Amino acid sequence: MKHMKKTFLLLASALMAVSATAESKIIPIETENVGLVYSVGDNGRLYQRYFGKKLINAEEYAKLPQGIEAYLTHGMEDYFEPALHINHADGNQSTLLKYVDSSTTTNADGSVSTVISLVDPEYNDEVKMHFTAYPDCDVITTYTEITNNEKKPIELEKYASSLLTFNAPAYYLTQYDGDWANEANLKEQKLEFGKKQLDTNLGSRHNMFLAQFFQLSIGAPAQENSGEVLAGNLGWTGNYRYTFEVDREGKLRVISGINPYNSEYTIAKGETFTTPEFHFTLSQEGKGGASRNFHDWARQYKVKDGMGDRMTLLNNWEATYFDFDEAKLIQLCKDAKTLGVDMFLLDDGWFANKYPRNGDTAGLGDWGENVEKLPNGFYPVIEEAKKQGVKFGLWIEPEMVNPKSELYETHKDWVITLPNRDEYYFRNQLVLDLSNPKVQDYVFSVLDDLKTKYPEIAFFKWDCNSPITNIYSPYEKNQKHLYVDYVKGLYNVLERVKAKYPELAIMMCAGGSGRGDYKGLEYFTEFWASDNTDPIERLFIQWGFSQIFPSKTICAHVTSWNRDASIKFKTDVAMMGKLGFDINLHELSESDLRYAQQAVREYNRLKPAILEGDQYRLVSPYDGNHTSTMYVTKDKSKAVVFAFDVYPRYNEKMYNVKMSGLDANKMYNVKEINRYDCNDQNVGQYSGNYLMTVGLPMFTGNKLHSRIYEVSAN
Ligand code: GLA
Repeated sequence: MKHMKKTFLLLASALMAVSATAESKIIPIETENVGLVYSVGDNGRLYQRYFGKKLINAEEYAKLPQGIEAYLTHGMEDYFEPALHINHADGNQSTLLKYVDSSTTTNADGSVSTVISLVDPEYNDEVKMHFTAYPDCDVITTYTEITNNEKKPIELEKYASSLLTFNAPAYYLTQYDGDWANEANLKEQKLEFGKKQLDTNLGSRHNMFLAQFFQLSIGAPAQENSGEVLAGNLGWTGNYRYTFEVDREGKLRVISGINPYNSEYTIAKGETFTTPEFHFTLSQEGKGGASRNFHDWARQYKVKDGMGDRMTLLNNWEATYFDFDEAKLIQLCKDAKTLGVDMFLLDDGWFANKYPRNGDTAGLGDWGENVEKLPNGFYPVIEEAKKQGVKFGLWIEPEMVNPKSELYETHKDWVITLPNRDEYYFRNQLVLDLSNPKVQDYVFSVLDDLKTKYPEIAFFKWDCNSPITNIYSPYEKNQKHLYVDYVKGLYNVLERVKAKYPELAIMMCAGGSGRGDYKGLEYFTEFWASDNTDPIERLFIQWGFSQIFPSKTICAHVTSWNRDASIKFKTDVAMMGKLGFDINLHELSESDLRYAQQAVREYNRLKPAILEGDQYRLVSPYDGNHTSTMYVTKDKSKAVVFAFDVYPRYNEKMYNVKMSGLDANKMYNVKEINRYDCNDQNVGQYSGNYLMTVGLPMFTGNKLHSRIYEVSAN
């Protein structure tokens, strides 16, 4: 009897729980395949009820348990890392958020935006959670707005852009870390109880040690073509932090946002702080699916001129370094034409007179043409470029200053530096204080003045070689704001550049890929992946960046690094990104030059697949001595497959490379193209089914050997 009573009570409370949740408000944020669902609890607070593969029947979201609070706040009953921590004027550090309302709108580009408003009933501070779902590419972006509705200023100690929670038996995190010339090394680890943070404190060159994205595999280690994988990127060109915390119940919380390290931010009464966007996708087709989602989204919605073409180029950096004059540059314009590329890009070393830029120790900040090297400015070079039918591009590094410069002498108040300590220099330079609007004007004027004087400049390589060192701003009233205000100042400048020069192509560079995030890429058309252009290293580095960035954004140049590798091997590697050359053409043999010219022609012809198509990573360089990647046009009529033998072992067993993304029912003609002898070779006719199921023998036992196959539907 006693037992029956207990069972009845349990049943009754379970029924109550079901009916209470069924009644609560459900807010689904959905793409074609992903569902992120919030709901309001009986206590009026907002919970993340679901995040995963979209359910066919949305009504069934109500059957799920409530989940973890959507935007966890500090000071309440949850014992784990909060997304929001406000220090109120009265010294109270707690925040409690209750649901107010939500709205959904469909945007002109087809994306769907949802805003959920929350308010603290005690302090009236408001949090608006914004989401935009891009249904066709399964990407969701999110950020929050935090408004101070108190009578006095409040300090935001933590202010994440996003909190996502998971409940699965295991989690595997993949990060891409490294250093200068050694970027984006893939490392995967299992997450156990506790916290793992991926973050940087570098300020300007913020990605120097860690690429700004991660993959999280849910349930099992990440696979290329299967399994559930979250990929994420914070759109913030500065210090960021991703916190992965597994709690006592084995639930995982992923918090993404500006790195709160030394960045407590005070906002005045009535003021709103807007966090940067966190961009993410959840794929059921492994890392490859997540990459393709990001690539599609990036091209269609995010990157500057994302759907536009990209220019091939000849760069003089490694060919001349700082040692050039007008005659050499004129010759380089001719060389660009000979090679068949679209542009000649003049790198570092063209500016400054009192302290000429003949090395990296002087001149940064003084952006007048050096009269020794360029007595007639760029006019004769631009004239020659026009004559040759190539464009002219220019390197700048406008956020930086060498202490040996006129800018430093006249405007030390514009420099981030400690007033009472010896200066520490990274690459002999310091960072300008972009929190100061006057400095923003100056940095804008560097590009604007050049463009005004030489409207023909068709491209800029915008470099940023130093992290923020000697952290102190002569301008800021609250020094803790500097890391954040630096980035806001940078965006003010870049907004102006984009507004005035919407068509201008610009490469984001920071001593290699010390910068690379999707907010930055709203202003830049591409980024420099690494100063390391050894093709073997590049196979790994490009593999890393291709995880979330489409090939048209990844600048890849052929250089003289690695004298053992042939021009063909180097060029084949660079053709998987945005192709450029940084070599002295006159050092090439006749046949090397002939090959390079052919490669440029082939690249231009294959751009619809390589730059606009779907990428499939077929064989990982991390798995052995060979690697292969392919690109398929959206209509599956054409594909390009790259295959590389790096250092095969003696008598190594070789397996076929199975293709992906083709139409199984179509017949394809396969030929090897871009051969060193410049003669294409027919391989045969195969169905898509055969190529994807059986594959072709593409690898060999030759060292540093590469092949490109063109696959064309009949
Ligand atoms: C950085 C860039 C290089 C080159 C040099 C010039 O290191 O990454 O590509 O432009 O600066 O100083």
